Amino acid sequence: MSDTSAITADSVGAIVSAALVEITAVQDLASLKAIRNTVIGEQSEISKLNGELRNIANEQKASAGALIGKARGELNAAYAARESELFAIEETKKLAAEAVDVTEAPTSSRFGARHPLSLLQEQISDIFIGMGWEIAEGPELESEWFNFDALNFDADHPARAMQDTFFVDPVDSHLLLRTHTSPVQVRSLLERDLPVYVLCPGRVFRTDELDATHTPVFHQVEGLAVDKGLTMADLRGTLEHFARQMFGPEAKIRLRPSFFPFTEPSAELDVWHPGAKGGARWVEWGGCGMVNPNVLRAAGIDPEQYQGFAFGMGIERTLMFRNGVLDMHDMVEADIRFSEQFGVVL
Ligand code: PHE
Repeated sequence: MSDTSAITADSVGAIVSAALVEITAVQDLASLKAIRNTVIGEQSEISKLNGELRNIANEQKASAGALIGKARGELNAAYAARESELFAIEETKKLAAEAVDVTEAPTSSRFGARHPLSLLQEQISDIFIGMGWEIAEGPELESEWFNFDALNFDADHPARAMQDTFFVDPVDSHLLLRTHTSPVQVRSLLERDLPVYVLCPGRVFRTDELDATHTPVFHQVEGLAVDKGLTMADLRGTLEHFARQMFGPEAKIRLRPSFFPFTEPSAELDVWHPGAKGGARWVEWGGCGMVNPNVLRAAGIDPEQYQGFAFGMGIERTLMFRNGVLDMHDMVEADIRFSEQFGVVL
């Protein structure tokens, strides 16, 4: 029989106090769990003392057992209380950390960039709006009459050939995908009151294969002015202003005689591009001329009273030589990395 004094109110009280100190000392659930075994579990002092019960005198077993049972109950309760206390603290911290302020202003993340062709198209439009011109639009699916006949193209003009133009079935619908923005000239003259100063940016179509310098779908910008007394000098002045806005104050223009059925006289327009890659040089930019009297007549305008000038150029081509873009593929593939080089403008 061992010493029965091992299980006394004092020894049990000392074990309980020590365990309570440990339990209250821990500051998080994980640490509490880590001491569980040594404060209330198999390895705890109170469990060890419980093991002593079988060694003590029978008549003392009841009171010793009661002491231990009471101590165990006290420790279990303290453990459970500390556990829920720590749980509540951690839960509060977690909720605070995960809180979402629904009133907070959203941080917007960027998902795209505007295409440089759209930006250039807008920039060109703004230059002309600044001069009091209006923006005109016409359909991409156009009638052959507006695209060719009204623009004074002969019935056998090569541009009408199937190999250049996307005609639309059935053939006798006389519909096509417009090959240039010039049909908007006639549409504008029919729809608007004189004088007319319009700019028409838009998509056009030709049966070209996509390669470094061609694409079957591209953009043009058309300019048309019809007023009393307009001359080539007005055309020149307008184009020069346009060129300077686009390419800088040192830019200038040059007109070379050419032919278009809808202008007479007609000219190829070159621009002196001061910032060209590899040094300043002349670049072919577009076509222009004085509106052919036959076009004015097709729109019901008396060419004796009104004169007009017109010009047109490719937007892809302009972007290519202005910004040193070497391959058309970059412009049609819509890779965000290409667009971002031009800056993200909203
Ligand atoms: N429409 C012509 C083209 O596509 C360009 C042009 C427009 C020429 C206006 C003269 C006047 O090539």
